Amino acid sequence: MAKKILILGAGGMLGADLVKAFSEEYDVVAWTHKDFDITDSFSFNKIKKLNPDIIINSAAYTAVDQAETERDKAFLINSEAIISLSRVADECDAVLVNFSTDYVFSGEKNGGYVETDPPSGALNVYGRSKSKGEENLKAKKHYLIRTSWLFGKNGKNFVRTMIDLAAKNQELKIVADQIGKPTYTADLAQAVFDLMKDMPEFGIYHLVNEDAVSWCDFAKEIFKIKGIDVKVTPVTSAEFVRPATRPKNSILDNTKRPKLRSHTEALKSYLKEI
Ligand SMILES: NC(=O)c1ccc[n+]([C@@H]2O[C@H](COP(=O)([O-])OP(=O)(O)OC[C@H]3O[C@@H](n4cnc5c(N)ncnc54)[C@H](OP(=O)(O)O)[C@@H]3O)[C@@H](O)[C@H]2O)c1
Repeated sequence: MAKKILILGAGGMLGADLVKAFSEEYDVVAWTHKDFDITDSFSFNKIKKLNPDIIINSAAYTAVDQAETERDKAFLINSEAIISLSRVADECDAVLVNFSTDYVFSGEKNGGYVETDPPSGALNVYGRSKSKGEENLKAKKHYLIRTSWLFGKNGKNFVRTMIDLAAKNQELKIVADQIGKPTYTADLAQAVFDLMKDMPEFGIYHLVNEDAVSWCDFAKEIFKIKGIDVKVTPVTSAEFVRPATRPKNSILDNTKRPKLRSHTEALKSYLKEI
């Protein structure tokens, strides 16, 4: 009999691709925000009744800048809800998968962050809420997956924003002193599928497309592949002030699982599909 897998946040950018990746081989129950609010502790009985083998939580508060003024909401969704999820996962004897971010790190390390690097010094509220969520992920059988700079079909993301902005402007100023690994949600969903198949040791995994790049160089790649003619001017984070400070070094190194393809190859696939 196929394993029963519950996907929370199924209407999100990653959630939608997780549903696709798992649908053929698993008995998938996909709940969007409307179907299930992870901050509503009274509704957790619904999960107990379902009794899934695996719970994948892709529901999250992801508005990085807005989190600076919505601290309580960010912590409620990204950290407190993980306590209830961990509890219900144990009650069902289920595997719990939760996602975290490069923003749990300060970005001061020389070289990429590996899975054993302790999260510390998050620079913004979102990062701190996800870091607390990592601490609260206490289910006996859990996977904590850190990923970064997501782009996917089902959501607003940097790639779409760049294409939209290029249609309205002749010149774009883009941050060149933040470096990370852009990751395609379809590739990440496949990597999570493979992880669930293999069921290696529980713990922390970094799943990202390969090859680090700055936002500015990533934008140039997008325009080159799409054949868009727009002037790109590199700027520093100090020149492009936003409510939430971002780490300079957002590089996550995947040292435990088969490496995903380069972000450039992933970007080409994505751009063919949108
Ligand atoms: N996006 C990135 O660049 C990035 C980078 C690193 C890590 N991550 C992590 O990867 C995971 C997936 O991110 P994503 O980009 O796919 O996020 P997303 O597109 O913003 O999707 C999150 C989903 O969660 C739902 N949600 C919000 N509050 C909820 C609640 N209280 N109960 C149930 N559902 C709720 C949202 O629904 P509504 O829209 O209706 O509120 C949305 O459908 C998250 O854990 C995120 O922190 C993301």
